[in-house]
Amino acid sequence: MADGKTLWHGRFEGDASQALRELNDSLPFDRRMYREDIAGSRAHVEMLGDVGLLEADELRDILEALDVVEAEITEGTFEWAEDDEDIHTAVERRATEITPSAAKIHTGRSRNDQVANDVRLVTLSEIDSLVGVLGALIDCLLRRAENAHENGWYLPGYTHLQRAQPVGLAHHLAAYCWMLMRDIDRLQETRRRADVSVLGAGALAGSALPIDPHLVAEKLGFSSVFNNSLDAVSDRDFVADLLYSLSVVGVHLSRLGEEICLWASSEFNFVELDDAFSTGSSMMPQKKNPDIAELARGKAGRLLGNLTGFLATQKGLPLTYNKDLQEDKEPLFDSCDTVRLTAVALTGMIETLKFNSTSMKDSADSPYAAATDLADFLVEKGVPFRMAHSVIAGLVRESLENGDDLVSLVAAHEDLGPDAAELLAPGVGSRRDSHGGAGPEAVLSQLKALRELVGNLQ
Ligand code: ARG
Repeated sequence: MADGKTLWHGRFEGDASQALRELNDSLPFDRRMYREDIAGSRAHVEMLGDVGLLEADELRDILEALDVVEAEITEGTFEWAEDDEDIHTAVERRATEITPSAAKIHTGRSRNDQVANDVRLVTLSEIDSLVGVLGALIDCLLRRAENAHENGWYLPGYTHLQRAQPVGLAHHLAAYCWMLMRDIDRLQETRRRADVSVLGAGALAGSALPIDPHLVAEKLGFSSVFNNSLDAVSDRDFVADLLYSLSVVGVHLSRLGEEICLWASSEFNFVELDDAFSTGSSMMPQKKNPDIAELARGKAGRLLGNLTGFLATQKGLPLTYNKDLQEDKEPLFDSCDTVRLTAVALTGMIETLKFNSTSMKDSADSPYAAATDLADFLVEKGVPFRMAHSVIAGLVRESLENGDDLVSLVAAHEDLGPDAAELLAPGVGSRRDSHGGAGPEAVLSQLKALRELVGNLQ
């Protein structure tokens, strides 16, 4: 408080120890929520005015003071006091310096419902921002996929990191678009659950004053209101939900990162990274390193750590508010910032990288990659698949062991012949037009569906 006292000084004789202040104070990290805190205070005092707990002139003075506080923090002229324990204390302390009426701000409110409200508001706006950033990454991947489809570029599809069947580059890139679309869906679901107003729960049991939580919810734009004050001040499920949703995003970005690391290696040589999105080596002049992709891979660990750490913090907490819950904010902010920065950097990297379509094609054009097509050829003639598989496997083995050309073996085989041998020609691997498959028609309709979904995100 302005007089150097804690909020609870009336009850205590001595001053708080330095160690307590350092451990207890959350201002260093929760000042980031000042807009949300002030928005909550505005809605709360307007409600107090509506229900007759504040006079019109008191309300006006408090609202003006809150405007000043917000402007000072935004402009960087706000003077933080050594005794400001957290953002709630700091805002109220400064507002009370501006107008004595602000001593009434906290009527019918506790920092317990106040902080839960702030964290919910932050969660909603962070999700909106993250959906925008992930939408931009999907859009970038999709544009590159659409272009790859027009150019007819293809590469080996892999299982077990062994070449399996050729697939269009568009199909491969679009797989990441679907992953990220699910991430957006998960974030929106998380948003829906966070969208509950908790102001009015008080410290834990509501209030004897005629406050109106529904009015506050409406003023803040929340979709619904808490039903149980004990639950309202102690619930941080929505934080865990967000940390989980962001962990899954992190896992997806990590997989994409690993793919780019592989593709950028000399062994694959499928992509060349733009200078602006790669780094060099201080010692080895020939190197161009995919640091962004590696960090995308590495950051997943930190996101998972934030999730498991915060779940462990909550485990075993009795009702209702406990100071342990102050540990919600740092992982929350860190996970949001980590995903945002990583996704933006990856978008720039993918936007500017050059696909080496010749290397991709050369790796995909092995006749062995069409082995499944040969088996399907026999299946179309009525041969049971298991039998077809064994016929083709025999030819592949013969070719590998004796060094015989697979195309000639196929052409000479009585059940296969020249029609089947044509399936082994380079660039033919595109007959898989079943729904969601790698064939060009199926991929085209998939790209159209994605384009529509991306359009709906805006
Ligand atoms: N800084 C606290 C937090 O982040 C605010 C709530 C404090 N409540 C209390 N009863 N001490 O959780």
